[in-house]
Amino acid sequence: MRKKVIAGNWKMNKDLHQSQKLVSDIINGLGKDTKADVIVCPPFTSLYEVSSLLKGTQIKLGAQNMYYEESGAYTGEVSTDMLKSVGCEYVILGHSERRVIFNEPDELINKKIKVALAKGLKPIFCIGELLEQRENGETMQVVSRQVEKGLEGVSSEQMKNVIIAYEPVWAIGTGKTATPQQAQEVHSFIRELVAKKFSASVAENLIIQYGGSVKPENSNVLLSQKDIDGALVGGACLKADSFLGIIASA
Ligand code: PGA
Repeated sequence: MRKKVIAGNWKMNKDLHQSQKLVSDIINGLGKDTKADVIVCPPFTSLYEVSSLLKGTQIKLGAQNMYYEESGAYTGEVSTDMLKSVGCEYVILGHSERRVIFNEPDELINKKIKVALAKGLKPIFCIGELLEQRENGETMQVVSRQVEKGLEGVSSEQMKNVIIAYEPVWAIGTGKTATPQQAQEVHSFIRELVAKKFSASVAENLIIQYGGSVKPENSNVLLSQKDIDGALVGGACLKADSFLGIIASA
């Protein structure tokens, strides 16, 4: 049985003060019998403070991006060691906003994934098709390419530390959610791809999250799909109540 994993991607929201408040509300509201794994991914500027507030809780910390070089003249970038030094265990990579707004290609995402894994950070590797690609019937082709290129050179052993998040780009921040059937179809396809690329047992144990306008009103039915093992939540993780509602449904 795969555990459900709920991650909150705060994106470019919450200054230090607001981050302290949000994470404290999440900690205080989280039931003791919560069965899901919970990850919060605040902006870089809040990681250290959120990390100290999370000490002694079951909530894990993730960053939203990183660069693959160890150190040096890379103005504006942050390395894996830096993220680990402030308590990060996870890092979101390949998010569609990085792909689309910041032009990150599959090759760059692949380099980051390999370095994250080699350095002991667990990637939450995001994939998903644009609206136009879905309308042209290219969803499975796009997702295949992203999995193939993004995970090139990753070993079966390392796959134990990878989470895949399927996020149809047309559903991110739009209020449009994929139907549970649409999501399940792609999730099961991704699991098959991973089985072919790695092994049946890697695929069976892989956490595949769904992301795109997940909220407490739709999380229950999405998370009850066979191949949906959790959620990567954007907008609805910025308020403790709605994030806790999604965690409760898991
Ligand atoms: P959303 O974002 O929940 O606001 O659609 C999800 C994501 O981008 O990870």
